[in-house]
Amino acid sequence: MELRINGKGYTVNCDPSEMLVWVLRDDLGLTGTKMGCGAGICGSCTIHIAGVPVRSCVTPVSAAIGQELTTIEGLATILDDGTEQLHPVQQAFLDEQVPQCAWCMSGQIMTAAAFLKENAHPNADDIDNALANNYCRCGCYVRIRTAVEKAALVMNAQT
Ligand code: FES
Ligand code: FES
Repeated sequence: MELRINGKGYTVNCDPSEMLVWVLRDDLGLTGTKMGCGAGICGSCTIHIAGVPVRSCVTPVSAAIGQELTTIEGLATILDDGTEQLHPVQQAFLDEQVPQCAWCMSGQIMTAAAFLKENAHPNADDIDNALANNYCRCGCYVRIRTAVEKAALVMNAQT
């Protein structure tokens, strides 16, 4: 099967019913996507399929064929000079020193990045609601909200 991930083509040989998280991590080495609950609940495995956040632990490979996938490894922009410019959400999470153990963070960031494309001017409640189903066992919720607010400001300034 052919997959398109972060702008690159990949060939994978697996059962089409295998969950994407395992193909990304074990077959393709894209270990930025984290496995948490494995049941579609915690959000740590969130990636984008055609720009829409999905939980890769409950999404089979078959659902990704012919689609453009983005993982945390592909969220940044590669500039003309070859350097990497982090997505504003990534940069804000760094600036605000959001992570503790960081296990949930790629899922938080992928969810927030998709959310800000849909809602450029969120208030605090909007952000909390958007991320309500991304669990952080370290309890970084206040800093997550602050970082998403900051990313929204940056993104609005860029447009
Ligand atoms: S690991 Fe996928 S939602 Fe928890
Ligand atoms: S930073 Fe540890 S689970 Fe979120």
